[in-house]
Amino acid sequence: MQSVLKYLASNQARFIEELCKYLRFPSISAHSDHRPDMRACADWLVAHCRKMGLKARRHATSGHPLVTASTPRRKGRPHFLVYGHYDVQPPDPLDQWHSPPFVPSIRDGVVYARGATDNKGQHFAHLKAVEAYLKTGTELPCDLTFIIEGEEEVGSEGLPQFLRKNRRGLACNAVVISDTGMPSKKHPALTYALRGVAALEVTVRGPKADLHSGIYGGSVDNPAMILSQMLAQLRDKRGRITVPGFYDDVDLLSAHERREFKRLPYNERSYKRLLGVPELFGEKGFTPIEQRSARPTLEINGLTSGYQGEGSKTIVPAQASAKITCRLVPNQSARKITRLLKRCLKEICPPTVQLKLEEGHGADPYIVSPTGSCAQAALAALNVAFGHKPVILREGGSIPIVTEFKKILGADSLLLGLALPDDNLHSPNEKFDLDCLRGGALMSAHLWPRLSNAC
Ligand code: BES
Ligand code: MN
Repeated sequence: MQSVLKYLASNQARFIEELCKYLRFPSISAHSDHRPDMRACADWLVAHCRKMGLKARRHATSGHPLVTASTPRRKGRPHFLVYGHYDVQPPDPLDQWHSPPFVPSIRDGVVYARGATDNKGQHFAHLKAVEAYLKTGTELPCDLTFIIEGEEEVGSEGLPQFLRKNRRGLACNAVVISDTGMPSKKHPALTYALRGVAALEVTVRGPKADLHSGIYGGSVDNPAMILSQMLAQLRDKRGRITVPGFYDDVDLLSAHERREFKRLPYNERSYKRLLGVPELFGEKGFTPIEQRSARPTLEINGLTSGYQGEGSKTIVPAQASAKITCRLVPNQSARKITRLLKRCLKEICPPTVQLKLEEGHGADPYIVSPTGSCAQAALAALNVAFGHKPVILREGGSIPIVTEFKKILGADSLLLGLALPDDNLHSPNEKFDLDCLRGGALMSAHLWPRLSNAC
C-alpha cells in the first residue's frame, strides 16, 4: 500500500495534465453533430486505459459507444464495477464562461471545463488509483471492471441492454460510483439515495403559422398564453405539485432521517448567496435539504415560443413548447408519474389549441441502507482519504443506471461523490477541485482492500 500512496503523490502533476487532455473532447451526448467527438473521446479513453495496464475496449450501443476497462479475472476474488460517464452536458450559454468550456483552465488549484466534475474528473480519480496499483506491482485484493458510458446525460438508453447481454461477466459484489457530491472538503459523503426523473415535452399548437397580432389577435387563442396558464396550474403557492395522484406513492421521511439531515452543514444565508436568489422557495413543511433531496418536484427546464430576437415583432405565435422534468423520490415510479402528468395536461388543455406530448427519459428513484458492511468500508476509506469524518446523505440528482444495476445484476451502488456544492454542474464555469482529484484517488486506493473484506 505504501508504494501505491507514494505513486499517487509523486504523479499528481501528470494526472492533472492527462485529465486536461480528457477534458478537451466536446463529448456532448445531446447533440448529434458531436457524434464524432463522442467516438474520439471513447477511443482516447480506451487507449489511456490500455497504457495504464487495463484490458480496455469500446462497445457499440444503440446510441453512443461505451468503454469497459478491466483487470484480469481471477477465481475466488471479489469483483467490483466502477461506473462513470464520459458524456457531458451542452456548455451553453457560452458567453458566461470565463474560459472556453473545452479548453481546460487551471486557476487556484481548480480545473475549469465542461465535464470536469460531471463526470470525467470523478471517475478519472478511480482510474489513477488503479493505475497506482498496476504500475507499482501491488496486488489488488479484488477484480475491477470500469464501465464508462457515453449516454448518462441523455438517460442511459443503451447501457441496460449491455448489462443484460453481459450479465454473467458483470456479476459483482457492488458497484462503486463517484458521480454525486459532498457538502465540503471537510464533509466527505456517502450518498444512500438518489431521486428519479421523468421527462416530458409539451407543445401547444394554435394557428398553422405565426399570425399578425393586429389583424387576427383577439379572434384566435394564443399558444404562449395557453401554455403559460396550463403550466401555472401545475404548482400551488405552497410549493405543492397539483397533478392529481402525484404524491400518492411518496415514502415519508422517518423521524430518524429528518434528525440526521439536521446534522448536515447548512446555512441559509450562504446557500442563498451560492445560488444568487433573493429568497428560497420550496414545499412548505420541509427544510431546504429535505426539499431538494427527499421530496418530489416538477420543474420547467425550458420554455419556448414566439419571437426572441432584437426589438419587437407583433405576432400570435403558431406554437409554444416547454420541456418539463419531475424529480421522483423512493416508491414513486417514472412511468406512473408520466402517465399522471399527461392525463392532467390533457384535461386542462382547452379546445382552442392542439396538444402534443412527447415522453423523454425516465429513471426510477434509488435508495439503499447506509448501515451495511460495504457502506461501513466505504465510510472508512473516505475518512482516511479526506481526514474528516464522513456524512451520509440523500442527493436530489439522478443517475438512471443505478436501478438497472440493481434489477439486472442484483448489485447495490456505493455512491461516493467528489463534487463540491459550487462546482457548477450543468452550468457555465463547471469546475473540479484538484484536492478532490487527489482525495478521490486516495479514497479509491484505500477502498479496495476494505471493500474486499467487507462485501
Ligand atoms: N452526476 C449527475 C447526477 C448527480 C449530481 C447526482 C449531483 C447527485 C448530485 C448526473 O450526471 C446527472 O446530471 N444526471 C442527470 C440524469 C438525467 C439527464 C436523466 C440529472 O440528474 O439530471
Ligand atoms: Mn450530469
